Parts: sequence; C-alpha cells; structure tokens
Amino acid sequence: MNHSLRSSWLITAVVTALVSCSDQDSTSSEPSLQVSDASASSDTTKGLDYDFYKESIEPIFIRYRGGFVGSDTACVACHTVQANAPLGLVALTEENGDVYWTEEQSRQNFENVAKLVNPSSPETSRLLLAPLAPTAGGERHSGGIFWDSTNHSEYRLVAEWIASGDPSASADPLVEVDFEFFRSCVQPIFVNPIENAMPCTECHSGVFAIPPPANAYWTEEQSRLAFEELIYLIDPGQPDSSRFLHKPLHPNAGGDLMHNGGRRWYSKDDPERQALASWIQGESIGSECPSALQFDNPPRS
Ligand code: HEC
Ligand code: HEC
Repeated sequence: MNHSLRSSWLITAVVTALVSCSDQDSTSSEPSLQVSDASASSDTTKGLDYDFYKESIEPIFIRYRGGFVGSDTACVACHTVQANAPLGLVALTEENGDVYWTEEQSRQNFENVAKLVNPSSPETSRLLLAPLAPTAGGERHSGGIFWDSTNHSEYRLVAEWIASGDPSASADPLVEVDFEFFRSCVQPIFVNPIENAMPCTECHSGVFAIPPPANAYWTEEQSRLAFEELIYLIDPGQPDSSRFLHKPLHPNAGGDLMHNGGRRWYSKDDPERQALASWIQGESIGSECPSALQFDNPPRS
C-alpha cells in the first residue's frame, strides 16, 4: 500500500476548499483511456436509487476523516465542482453554523456521481476504483487510498448502491486522448515558454515535463512517460476540469487561483489553449499540428 503523497494543500475551509494535488508515487496501473461501451443509457441517472444515495452514499463524501492531508481528508474537500477533478460535488451550503447539501444540491450531486458508475458491471465503476488500493484492484488516485480492500464497509455500500441501477445501463463512454498528437504537438510546450516565463521543464521535470535530450527530440519512451503523467492532470473530454488547462490559466479567465509557475494563458480563447482543449475532447489526433501548436524547438530529426 502506498500512502506517500507528495501533495501541497491550502485549505481555507471545507466549503471553499482550494486544493492543489501533486501526483502520487505510484506506478501501479496504466492510465485507462480505452473507449468503453458506447451504448450508455439515455437516463442520465441509470435507474439508480436516489433515496439510497441520499441516505447512505452522500454521507461518505462528506465524512470527516480526521485531517486535511491525503486520505485523512473528506472527499468533498477535493471534489467540489470548482475543483478540477471528476466527481464534481456541489459546494456545500453553510447556514447557522451547519454545513450541508440542500435537497436540490443532492439531486445535482446524484446526477454527477451517476456519471462515474456502471450498473451493468458495478466493480468496474470509476467511483469504486479510485478510492480502492491498487493492491486490491483499484486505480491510481491523486487523493490517496481510502479502502484497503473490497470488504471495506464504504466500498460495499457503494457497490450495493450501484447494483440498484438498471443492469443495462453502462459506463459513460471515455474520450480517447491521442498520444501521437501529444508527442508531436503538445510536448514542445514544456520547453517553449512565453515571454518572461520559465519553461515547465524547470519545475515539472520529474513528472510530465521531462526535458528532451540535448539538441534532439524526446525519445518515444520519454514521450510515453510524460504522457502517462500528464494523463492524471487531464479529465478526458472535459478541458475545463483538466488541471493541465486549469492551472496555467489566469484566474480572471476562470483559471486556478494559485500556480507557482505563473500563467501561460490569459483567456480561454487563447488559440493555443483552444487547440489543447480540442485535443482533450478527443478531436485532434495524429502528428499534423494546428498553427497554434507549431514549434521549432526541440529540433526534430
Ligand atoms: C517556477 C516553477 C514552475 C513552472 C515554471 C511551472 N510550474 Fe506548474 N506548478 C509548480 C508548482 C510548485 C506546482 C504545485 C503548487 C501549485 O499548484 O502552484 C505546480 C502545479 C502545476 C499543475 C497541477 C499539478 C497537480 O498535480 O495538480 C499543473 C497542471 C501545472 N503546474 C502545469 C504547468 C505547466 C503546463 C507549466 C508550463 C507552461 C508549468 N506548470 C510551469 C511550479 C511551476
Ligand atoms: C486529497 C484530495 C482528494 C481526496 C480527499 C479525494 N480525491 Fe478523488 N480525486 C482527486 C483528484 C485530484 C482526482 C483526479 C486525478 C486522479 O484521478 O487521480 C481524483 C479522482 C477521483 C475519481 C475519478 C477517477 C477517474 O476514473 O478518473 C473518483 C471517482 C474519485 N476521485 C473519488 C473519490 C472519493 C469517493 C473520495 C473520498 C472517499 C475521494 N475521491 C477523495 C483528489 C481527491
């Protein structure tokens, strides 16, 4: 089990949690980017039982876990709609010292959470895999490990709830984010700073911004490693909730309030950011780069 999170937190309050997560020392699993069964049910809530959700599942997201770091933190501290991670929960209502979700807010949460479950095969649900230890079959999760096995009471409750759904409702299709486009058109961003800025490689060289060899392009393997790291900062199909596009965007344009590395984009209309957004939406593939993503550095052989 791996509890060693390299994280930095700034939490003002649970309600307006301002969270920045760094990646976890885990090499457990390959990013899962396959396009899953596209025959998703048109009912967005997949026949799931709302009363069960309200009674037993939602409390799991708000449960106080003793602290403010990693898996001691309540899910909601990292997973509000403003925070750029999947499982967008609505910000809690605060009234007379009480903190809670109103009925309307819970309904909204219910719809958002339903996107991450697969009643036709409950144990493959993203909602179950993220908090589960990789040693027990879980996926890498920036928030850390919450359930050490599938016998954990929370895991079992969530699994039971998912099984209440329509057995023909499946997972929402996952958009495929193209590696070739990353290698040819996206990766050079990391060594081509805008004026007066430092290159991303200066600070993120250990993760997604691996520096290229001297006077040469990244090797295929270096590109693969960088891609696998960057994938954790991308919510496929959701540019705005992808940390890669959120962190370097100026807060006045809807970006993150804090980034030690400064800003690269001052508007969502920035052509470079738009080109990246369409890649994250799965619309840009291959090695032909749009004009906003053409760089001479590093040299290509
Ligand atoms: C001067 C150092 C520095 C530079 C240059 C820099 N960053 Fe950062 N970046 C940081 C630090 C420190 C953090 C973590 C704390 C924070 O959020 O500010 C971070 C966080 C991030 C995150 C969130 C990571 C996570 O795990 O949630 C992303 C995405 C990111 N940076 C992207 C970039 C990109 C893209 C560039 C280049 C355009 C860049 N950064 C340049 C220092 C830098
Ligand atoms: C310390 C912050 C933090 C906490 C606490 C946290 N998470 Fe996360 N979670 C994240 C971040 C960041 C991501 C997006 C990157 C990733 O998938 O690792 C994420 C991703 C997810 C995903 C989507 C995984 C996917 O398939 O893309 C789910 C589901 C999830 N978390 C559920 C939970 C649940 C349930 C809890 C509470 C038991 C929880 N998280 C607690 C930070 C956190």
